[in-house]
Amino acid sequence: MVRILVLHGPNLNLLGTREQSIYGTTTLDEIDAAIAQTAENLNIEVDTRQSNVEGELVTWIQEARTGYHGIIINPAAYTHTSVAIRDALAAVALPTVEVHLSNIYQREEFRHHSYIAGVAMAQLSGFGPAGYLLALQGLLEHLLEQGAKTGAATSKPVRRTRRRNA
Ligand code: DQA
Repeated sequence: MVRILVLHGPNLNLLGTREQSIYGTTTLDEIDAAIAQTAENLNIEVDTRQSNVEGELVTWIQEARTGYHGIIINPAAYTHTSVAIRDALAAVALPTVEVHLSNIYQREEFRHHSYIAGVAMAQLSGFGPAGYLLALQGLLEHLLEQGAKTGAATSKPVRRTRRRNA
């Protein structure tokens, strides 16, 4: 079964109350519940973790080498500062999707540069919490395509949507 690690960076534990005009009112627990529900629908496994500590995120990325097929990460402020997180992602070389709740390119200049984008297969910025769900879908499609090409063990998931005429 496909296994994906979802990482949330610093201050995202405060979602729901933090700068609501930018990040909305959805809490991180609610986002994680939506991620878990989507993963169940897609028949994949996800682990969601949050840390305010750069080194902890680096360690989790390193550990993902064994047992995970891909990573979804919102590095939050570390997006714009962390060579260490970029290097960890490059080192493990798992397909990675970078997610931002807000559109970082519409905000302050210092948010326009991402150290992560250069080592990510894709970036979603500005969809709010839905970005994580879109990332799951996109990453799964990518992994299945890669699996089909390489014969890897990422098997086609059982689709639970019923066809109208079935
Ligand atoms: C963020 C954008 C970052 O610039 C900011 O530091 C965050 C959250 C987002 O999800 O929009 O903490 O990653």
